[in-house]
Order: sequence, then C-alpha cells, then structure tokens
Amino acid sequence: MMATNLAPGVHWVGAIDWNLREYHGYTLPGTTYNAYLVRGEKTALIDSAYAGFENQILGRVASVCDPGEIDYIVLNHIEMDHSGCLPTLVRKMPGIPIYCTERAKTGLARHYDTSGWNIRVVKTGDTLDLGGKTLTFLEAPMLHWPDSMFTYLAEDAILFPNDAFGQHIASAARFDDQLGKNEALAHAQKFFANLIIPLAPKVLKKLDEVGKLGIAIEMIAPSHGIIWRSYAGDILKAYIDWSQGVAKDKVTIVYDTMHGSTTMMAQAIAEGVMAEGADVRVCLLRDGRYEGTHRSDIVTDVLDSKAVLIGSPTLQDEVLPTVAGFLSYLRGLRPGRLGAKKIGCAFGSHGGMGGAVAQAEEALKAAGIEVIDGGFHVNYRPDAGELARAYELGRKVAREIRAR
Ligand code: FEO
Repeated sequence: MMATNLAPGVHWVGAIDWNLREYHGYTLPGTTYNAYLVRGEKTALIDSAYAGFENQILGRVASVCDPGEIDYIVLNHIEMDHSGCLPTLVRKMPGIPIYCTERAKTGLARHYDTSGWNIRVVKTGDTLDLGGKTLTFLEAPMLHWPDSMFTYLAEDAILFPNDAFGQHIASAARFDDQLGKNEALAHAQKFFANLIIPLAPKVLKKLDEVGKLGIAIEMIAPSHGIIWRSYAGDILKAYIDWSQGVAKDKVTIVYDTMHGSTTMMAQAIAEGVMAEGADVRVCLLRDGRYEGTHRSDIVTDVLDSKAVLIGSPTLQDEVLPTVAGFLSYLRGLRPGRLGAKKIGCAFGSHGGMGGAVAQAEEALKAAGIEVIDGGFHVNYRPDAGELARAYELGRKVAREIRAR
C-alpha cells in the first residue's frame, strides 16, 4: 500500500472506500477518507477514517516510515468517518497526544471511551511545532460540526480543512489535475449542495477570516476526494459563488406523477422556459438506481438554478410521498441562506379536494424560496387551455430569472 507525496515530508495516507453508495441520504460513487502524514523532526498524523480502515491508513504510513514514529495525532473533526480509527491508533500508540478543539474533546467522549487518552485542546492561532514544519490551528465551528477545525501547514502553504472543499468520489486520482477540473468541481458541487448550503453564511465569514490572515494557500487538502493543487483558486471561488447564491439562468423542475397529468404540466412548463432561452432541468423523482433522479442529485441542480418548481398530484390530500421526501430534504438544506434568493412555484393535478400544491408552496417558503405564482392546479387532466397556461408559466419564470 502506497502513500502519495504532496510536498517534501507531506504525504496522503488515507483510505479509499470503493463500495460506499449511500451516506445519510446522499448517493455517491464511493469516497475517500483522507489522512495526512506531516514529517519534520517530529511526525504528525492528521485525521483518520471509519473503524475498519486502519490497515489502509497504517499500511500507507508504513510506506513512508514506521507507524511507531508518529508523535502526534491532529483531529480536525470528530465525525466517525474521520475519528473511527482512533481507538485502534491509541491502543497501538498509548499516550499519543491528540490535538483537537474543546468541543471535539467533549464529542469524542460521547463516541468512545476516552479515559486515558492524551487529548490536548487547541484554539485558533495555537501551533504545533514539528521542527521544520509548523501546524497552525483555526477553529471552524459548524463547518460543518461544532467541533470542526482547519489545520494550516505554513512551510508548504497547505490547508487541511477537513470536510470543507471535499468531494465524495473513489478514484485512483489523488489530485484535481489528475481527475480533471470539471469533474472535480462537479463532485464538489454535489458535496456543497448536500452538506454545505445551510452553512453558506459561515463559509463566507470563514473565508473572509482566512483572507484577512494573509496566508498563502498553495494546496487545499480536504478529508474527502481529490487534493486541490492546480485549481485551489477555482474551488475557493466556487465556494464563494455558491455561498453567495450565484446561479445560472436555469430552472429545475422537480416532480412526480400518478397518471401522467403532472408530467404533461411539467413538460409544458419546460417548453415555456426553453422558449425564452433559459436552461431547464426536468427531474422525475426516483431513487438512486436511476442516475440523476435521486434527491441528492437534484439539489445539485437546484444549487446552480435561479428557480425551483415543484410538481405533485394530490394523494389522500397530500403531496406524493416522493415529493414529500424531497421537500423535507430541501427544507433542511435551507437554500434561503444562500446570498441570493431563488424563486419557485408549485403545480399539480388532483381528482378530489386537492391540497398538494398548497403544501408544496408552504414547503418552498419554509426553504427560503420566494413563491412567485400561486395555486396552479388542474382537475384530473390538463386541457389545452391549462397546458397553454403551463407554457406561459415557464416563460414567466424564465423572464423573471433573467431579470435578476
Ligand atoms: Fe466527512 Fe463531517 O465528516
């Protein structure tokens, strides 16, 4: 098992999880749990992986040095995909100092029996001198857990921000230029859409804080996916743009259908959007077996769309369960926290009393999306006039987003 060299004395010693396909509601083509070995006169291991991946981590360390030479562990984040190897590591290296935030110390004790662990709490600005390599810690609460912190290696201008700037992908590529810029950014967009959107204001604040430190950042080495060395500036800009709500003249239409009526409406709306020259993505909600139809893929489109339209027929006075699940997910992500507001509306058919459209509108509002056209529902099947109204709705939405 081999490590990958980032800079003199700095190696990736992480684990590749080729098989992971689902991660709290997010479909993914595997992932990596990145850990890093930084060697000066002393040696530090930054982060680890889920329990069960110890052999990969220690095997890669062994390609660089005897694992017994590790003097310190730095834990940027306690979530188990980064801390799960700690019980084994501490058993193999009793008394090894573990550097983390105060909240991480508390959180670790809720996950593991930490009695006897040598935990050293650090705050922003604290350093760990390895002799020729200096690690500086920067607390990053709620990016994305209360315990999170970044670690900066001054001599090589490398930032280790844990989950931030990560992407879920299992690949032989370790660096952005090996995977390709566009693919790397696409995976980062899905990661941001599914995990970072509600934290957008904190992202902007933290990036501003890092900017004011005036430190050089040549490389960004996150805890998942590829390491940004050729496109570090691009991912920083992408995070700023996504957080500020910069989006395309694009409409995402998300819907499910019972007998095809809501499909007819969705397609007519999409025709109207296209007639105005805007981009449109029409998403029939399905599960992870069908590429691009899972909620975690659809919110990736929502992130760079200026408008989100929701379609559902009424079932037992409610939206369809698939749509309810998507709306719950969207509400939790709170796209209203992005710097620029998205617009949206709801549509659908009904046989009885109806109710799905009003429910979807309320969910859009709760997600922070501005509802611009209320109550577009039809009885049973849309007739020619109602399909014309759907087409005009698409044109209206397209014109509205282009004016923003
Ligand atoms: Fe990759 Fe928040 O764990």
